[in-house]
Amino acid sequence: MTNTMAKLIDGRAIAEKVYVDLRREIAELKAKGVTPGLAVILVGDNPASRAYVRSKDKMCRELGLHSVKLELQASTTQAELLGRVEELNRDPGIHGILVQSPPPEHIDEAAIVRALDPRKDVDGFHPANVAKLVLEDSSGFVPCTPLGVQRLLLESDIDINGAHVVVLGRSMIVGKPLALLLMQKNKNGNATVTVVHSHSRELANITRSADIIIAAIGRAEFLKADHVREGVVVIDVGINRVEDQASERGYRLVGDVAFDEVSKKASAITPVPGGVGPMTIAMLMANTVKAARQSL
Ligand code: GUN
Repeated sequence: MTNTMAKLIDGRAIAEKVYVDLRREIAELKAKGVTPGLAVILVGDNPASRAYVRSKDKMCRELGLHSVKLELQASTTQAELLGRVEELNRDPGIHGILVQSPPPEHIDEAAIVRALDPRKDVDGFHPANVAKLVLEDSSGFVPCTPLGVQRLLLESDIDINGAHVVVLGRSMIVGKPLALLLMQKNKNGNATVTVVHSHSRELANITRSADIIIAAIGRAEFLKADHVREGVVVIDVGINRVEDQASERGYRLVGDVAFDEVSKKASAITPVPGGVGPMTIAMLMANTVKAARQSL
């Protein structure tokens, strides 16, 4: 039978399960005299970044974590920003530091990331943590969105082991670390991973052979019904603002997947919003708690 509606993977509900476990672990750390602390630095006033930073701060407060939100002017210099990072590296009340990406043009983001203490790099962007992901050393930090995608699949009882996973996009934040994570030699990995991107030939032939497609290409409604086979599982990492005069804000959010048509062929699919987004924040909280635990 075709045209049965896909199962919706509810990221908000799965994130709530993550928080149940985290609250217990936070209570245990507090009993040992440690309150996990997260510092989030935003440089400039990109509206999407401001919204992300606000929701991270809010979630810290809800969980009883120590939260520091630094909002710096767009004119902040590289040296000033490095100074802030070094202060936070030395601050024993801060276990995780995140510099919201992308910073303004004049900031050398890679240099800022290298200046982070890798033990506080809860984004998993520092070269030491990238190396640990490649080496399958679980003491490192894995970027939050890839971790969230993996957790969504596991909690939805979708078999990653041996599956053909096609990752659309090769970014440092999502595509590349996600491919590394899902091909790891362990029970939560063991996938056959193909990464496709803007230069890939015969893209549709590759995506049509996927058991699981993870769209992280940053193009609104890029993945169409023709790209997928019946029964595929689709995880949509995209968050794109598209103009919509009918909406009060003047725009609406859509993913990298043409949801209406793809959901008719998929066996399971994430919505946007309410899929990967809530999981990314949950995994940031989890990484912060891990950093606090490892600081003991
Ligand atoms: N911008 C978009 N996603 C992320 C993320 O996971 N971490 C940071 N620091 N910036 C981002």
